[in-house]
Amino acid sequence: MFIQNQWYVAGFAKELSTQLLARTLLSEPVVMFRSESGKVVALEDRCCHRNLPLSHGKVQGDCLSCGYHGLVYNTDGECIHVPGQDTVPPGAKVKKFPLVEKDNVLWIWMGDLAKANIADIPDYPIHSDPRWAHKGSHYTINCHYELIHDNLIDLSHVGYVHGKTIGGTPAAHSEAQMFVERQGNGVTVRRFMKDTVPPPTYVRSIGFKNNIDRWMQITFVPGLIRIYIGAADTGKGFDEKNQMDQLGLRIFNGVTPETEKSTHYFWTAAHNHRLTEPNVTEALHAEVAQTFEEDRIVVEAQQRRFEQFPDRKTFAIKIDAGGIHARRVIAQLMEAEKKAALIST
Ligand code: FES
Ligand SMILES: [Fe+2]
Repeated sequence: MFIQNQWYVAGFAKELSTQLLARTLLSEPVVMFRSESGKVVALEDRCCHRNLPLSHGKVQGDCLSCGYHGLVYNTDGECIHVPGQDTVPPGAKVKKFPLVEKDNVLWIWMGDLAKANIADIPDYPIHSDPRWAHKGSHYTINCHYELIHDNLIDLSHVGYVHGKTIGGTPAAHSEAQMFVERQGNGVTVRRFMKDTVPPPTYVRSIGFKNNIDRWMQITFVPGLIRIYIGAADTGKGFDEKNQMDQLGLRIFNGVTPETEKSTHYFWTAAHNHRLTEPNVTEALHAEVAQTFEEDRIVVEAQQRRFEQFPDRKTFAIKIDAGGIHARRVIAQLMEAEKKAALIST
């Protein structure tokens, strides 16, 4: 079960070309491409003639031609030509999904076309802000998407799972001041750690020699988690209001279900220091990638246990407050969609 009526990250804009890109999103096979005139297009990845995935075909101008018998589809998914005959069978078409390129990200709408509103797409101006440099990646993680939400919203795990990179001391993370603020369909968690040991990644980036003050802000809305991280020498520049910092990191986390048991994870890491040194961007990307590989081990192992023991009880603790709210938001939105579907039938 997924929320259908919302924008999800389908990929990064740079991934799209006239080469067909196949991706399963919300258990639906999708083929995406950039037409020769530059339109970004997403269609159901299934030919309506004999079900060959359209991703076996090729882009021709603004159209896609199937790789089996050459049916030609336009960017709305309508079949407009059948080789060897003058007419197209009535109703020969496949689903089209609205696809929008914004902030170097591809956003897709898999739900009711009448409800798709481009103004609802989340903003991420950091991707085009010259005060920030970024690099990102796409992973497929073998777990339910809400385990990734839990992992990103609760950063108290950082000290335990990421000791070699962004960790620092576990106790400092568990004892951090934490504020949880619910906003409609979203939640923001703020964490402050004062006078704490700088983690290895921060030392490598900035060269901190002594203890630091750190802050983290995690903002969840369905489909996207934005993480803002800052640090400064203890007592210098740390300000919970204007959050001026020597080291600023911004992590974009697009979380899109692939299936009930696997998730697309599109992330970027941006930094606000040493902007003219591409090796700093590369090094930050490599370190964040390492931390996400550490998270992958955790969430995929959890998934196996949840599948093995679906009925065994787990319980919540204080640090789960943000994640619980995110689960509640998703459950409510899915319930509302279910009710609306019942009313319309
Ligand atoms: S299966 Fe696509 S044209 Fe026949
Ligand atoms: Fe993590």
